[in-house]
Formats: sequence, structure tokens, C-alpha cells
Amino acid sequence: MNAKQLIQKYLDFFKSKGHAIIPSASLIPANDASVLFNTAGMQPLVPYLTGTPHPVGKRLANVQKCLRTVDFENIGDDTHHTFFQMLGNWSLGDYFKKEAIGWSFEFLTGKKWLNIPVAKLAVTVYQGDKAVPRDEESYALWRSLGIPEERIAFVGKDNFWIAGETGPCGPSTEMFFWTGEGKAPARFDSDDHRWVEIWNDVFMAYNKKEDGTVTPLKQKNVDTGMGLERTLAILNGKKSAYETDLFFPIIQKIEPFSGKKYLQEQRPMRIIADHIRAAVFILGDENAVLPSNVDRGYILRRLIRRIVRYGKMIGISTLFTVELAKIVVQEYGDLYPEVRQNKERIYDELRKEEEKFERTLEKGLREFGQMAKHGDLSGTDAFLLFQSYGFPLEMTEELAAEKEIKVNVKGFLAEYEKHKELSRIGAEKKFKGGLADASPVVIRMHTATHLLNEALRKVLSPDIHQRGSNITPERLRFDFNFERKLTPEEVKKVEDEVNRVIRAHLSVKRVEMSHDEAVRLGAEMEFGVKYPARVSVYFVGDYSKEFCGGPHVNNTKEIGHFKITKEESVAAGVRRIKAVVE
Ligand code: SER
Repeated sequence: MNAKQLIQKYLDFFKSKGHAIIPSASLIPANDASVLFNTAGMQPLVPYLTGTPHPVGKRLANVQKCLRTVDFENIGDDTHHTFFQMLGNWSLGDYFKKEAIGWSFEFLTGKKWLNIPVAKLAVTVYQGDKAVPRDEESYALWRSLGIPEERIAFVGKDNFWIAGETGPCGPSTEMFFWTGEGKAPARFDSDDHRWVEIWNDVFMAYNKKEDGTVTPLKQKNVDTGMGLERTLAILNGKKSAYETDLFFPIIQKIEPFSGKKYLQEQRPMRIIADHIRAAVFILGDENAVLPSNVDRGYILRRLIRRIVRYGKMIGISTLFTVELAKIVVQEYGDLYPEVRQNKERIYDELRKEEEKFERTLEKGLREFGQMAKHGDLSGTDAFLLFQSYGFPLEMTEELAAEKEIKVNVKGFLAEYEKHKELSRIGAEKKFKGGLADASPVVIRMHTATHLLNEALRKVLSPDIHQRGSNITPERLRFDFNFERKLTPEEVKKVEDEVNRVIRAHLSVKRVEMSHDEAVRLGAEMEFGVKYPARVSVYFVGDYSKEFCGGPHVNNTKEIGHFKITKEESVAAGVRRIKAVVE
């Protein structure tokens, strides 16, 4: 069975049980600063698990793009992946344990479905705690379906599932498959790694608050997640998904580049294949981020740089990431059209990042070799590798671990903070004089820029955000993410929208607040910019709100007439508008 067939089977099965099939949400939650990436199928559904009615009903199923970075050092083993796909079905206050467990069993063992022998299965159920009782009901349900007593284990906190620290949660029952040689042992031991977890049914009937208390939710939900990668591997009798159609075409491309075989260089090739797939999905996402030194961009940078380093390690001496990315786009483009649509951006960014790191990697490795001769690395050493050669801290730590020495991480962070402080002071200075001057015309254009920012979202797409801005007495310049050229009609519409707001004579107000409060209010901020804990937000009537240091006009009527003079491309996925006020 290949990946496509497995996905189809899963969705067909749950469709036959009255579920609506919903598309995968973006990998990068645009409006949720609390998580870097979607780590589970339920994450985009949180509002519906807590009571908001879902537009397509109470029974949902899908295949969801997920990405977890907690398992970074496990990548390369048989069962962990950075990017992975989760098959899931949900009950939003509809069915509960009996149906969920019954259907899980039917899908796993049914002849028409996965046809897995019961003799290869085992399950865990929740042993209970102070707030939540032992899950006797799930135990009894599994027993009634024919799972023997010795194959059911009562487990503690591993069987209470929550995404992060707070929110909807509940006891879970997990299903395991025997991957060892020969017959599975009669008694199930959930710590034996030959038992691989493939599916998790969470009975999401509780909510955990910040103070740690767990209280019942308004509705009893079911949230299940089946790891596509793992399940596909076991169904094909493979030790790992790397040997299935999800990864093998990528590995087959790595082999000739390196002149080595998978069996000789299994771990590095697995890491490269895993990371390139993750990088393609981050760069190809609807809410893509680009490589940078903060948050999501930093994870992406680490992934790409790790690919380059492992490539070098197995003897690759040419640029290769784009060629691997092409395989990912080809293999995944049908199911996830966004990677095909955004392929130019994916290739451009990979190429740029690879070229940049290629130039310094060799020298950096030599420098590291010198440093390592003296034993453990100081914070200053690690910072030098970061600053001059672009080595992410984690890469330096990994190199050090290979030589069995340590890195002074605290020292590195202290250096990093010192540097950040210096650049922050630099940025503030620049900002004060950031507008070419504070002449009335520049101030008028500055406020017009805020209106333009909002107008683009209103007219073209709510996903548009600022990527850069620059104002001189002659013109304003505004960069934003958008995939294609604007039509003349669209340019006109945007211009009209800004002029409409100017004529509405809205007043402009500055409010100081905490960064969190501003985010909660949905104030616009510039992509990739780090803001301090207290920020100033400019409100133009109730039309626009934006993180900004000013200065601005007091009322939009002071702006005059707004006119767009040019619309052009600056980079893949980034457009630029130049405009004047008259
Ligand atoms: N949310 C649960 C998990 O991620 C079930 O989907 O395991």
C-alpha cells in the first residue's frame, strides 16, 4: 500500500461513518503566537473543541500537516520525523468512547480496511489521577472487541494528552503494533520499543487552566491521531517510513549526489531526507516563513544548515538542496498543491541559504576543529562560530558531542544577549531618524502607509503583511507578501480604498500597551521584527491598528490625495508599491 492509498482508505472509512472531510490547515498558525508550528491535527480545531459550532458539522476527519521539533535529536531513528502527517477523526460533542474505539478497531483489523491481525496489536488506557478517574470504560470496550487482558496496559501521564500546557485535554487510549521478529509476546510491555504506537484516541472532555486545574469541558469530544508515516511503514513490513514511498525517492536522489549507498550512510541520509521535506513544507506553506535568526525562521535555518552539513559529511560537494526539493514537490504536490504553487520561492530560498552557508561551513569547521583541540568550547567560541560562520548553537553542540566535549551554552546566550542589546540600541537610533526626516509630507505619507497596509488586506487578501517600508520626502515605499502582480483594477481599488478612508476624516491615536495586549488586539506588526515588552500602537479610527513608533498626523484629512505610482516585484512572493500624497 502506498501513502495515497492509505490516506484514501482512512478518509473513505470515516466518510462512511458520517464524517465530513476537511482540508489540512496551514502548518504555520498565523494567528496563534503560542505555537511555532502545528503539532497535532486538533490544534486548528481548538475553538470547535471548546464549543464554537464547526461550519461543516460535528464529525470531522482529515490528514493534517504537522511539525515537531522536540524530537530533533531522534531524527534518523526509525520512527521520528520533523514534518509528518496525521490522519485524524473528531467528534465535536457528538460520539464518544464506544464509537471511537469501535471504529479504531474496525479500521485497523477490518478485512476491507487495514486488515491487521489482532495478534499484533496492544493498547494502553489511562490509569487515572486525582481529577480524572481510571478509564475502566475504555478497558471494557477493548476487551469486548477481543483484545486480551495481557495486551491492555494501564498507563499514567503518557495517557493524558494535551497540546502544550493548557487547553482542551483528556485521557487517551493508544494503539501499538508489534514490529519485532516472530510472534508478539503474550504480555504487552509499553516500554519495549518493538511495540510502535500508531494511533491515539483522546477523550477530550476536560480543560486545563494556567493554574493547573483540570475541569470538565462543555462538551465531550474525541480527538484521534494516526501517524501516517509509522502506519505506512508497518503496513509494508518496513522498519521505517524512510523505506516507503514517503521518503525513498528523496533518498534515491541523495545516493548519486554523495556517491554512497543508503545502507552505508543510513542516519545522515535519513536526516537529510527528513529535513528537506520539512523545509519544503515550511517554505511552501500558505503562511510561509523565510530563514532567519528568530522563532520559526530559525528552525528553518537550522534545518537547511543541518542538511548542508550532513551533505558535506557524506561527500556531497555541489549544491544539492534544490534538486532534492524538486523530488519533494513532485511527490507531494498532488496532495498539497501549495508546495507546487510556491515552488519558485522554495527553490530560491533554499538556494540562497545553501550558498550562504556553503561559503562559511568549511572554514567554520576548521575553526571549530582548532577550538576543540583545547577541550570544551567557551560561550565566546560558540558565539564566534554563530556570528562569523553562521553555525546555529545546536549545530555547534552537535559537533561538540561528536567529539565528546561540551559547549558553554549559558556563556553563548550571554554573548548573544549582549549583541542583541547592541543591535537594539542601534535599531532604536535608526528608528528615531528612520523616516528620512519628520517633515509634514513625510508624516502624511507615514500615516498613508498604515492605511495602505490595511487597504491591501481588505482589497486583496487578509494574509498580507508588511515586509518593509521606507519613506522619503519624494515617495513612500511599501513591501508586502503577495504571490503575483496586481492587476490595474486592483491597484485602482487599493488606491480608492485609501482615499475613501482619508475622506472619512478618521482621527489617529497612539496607545502604549504590553506587547501581549497588542498581539491580542491583533495589531499589525512587521514580519520578522522583534518588538520590546511594551510597545506603542497607532490606531487610525477603528480602521487600522499597528505597532509603530510614529510620528503620525492627527486626522486622516491632513494626508491629502493618495496616489500609487508603481507596483513591482522585489523578491519571490514579495511585492512593492510606491506612492505619493498630493
Ligand atoms: N492529539 C492527539 C495526538 O497528537 C491525537 O490526535 O496524539
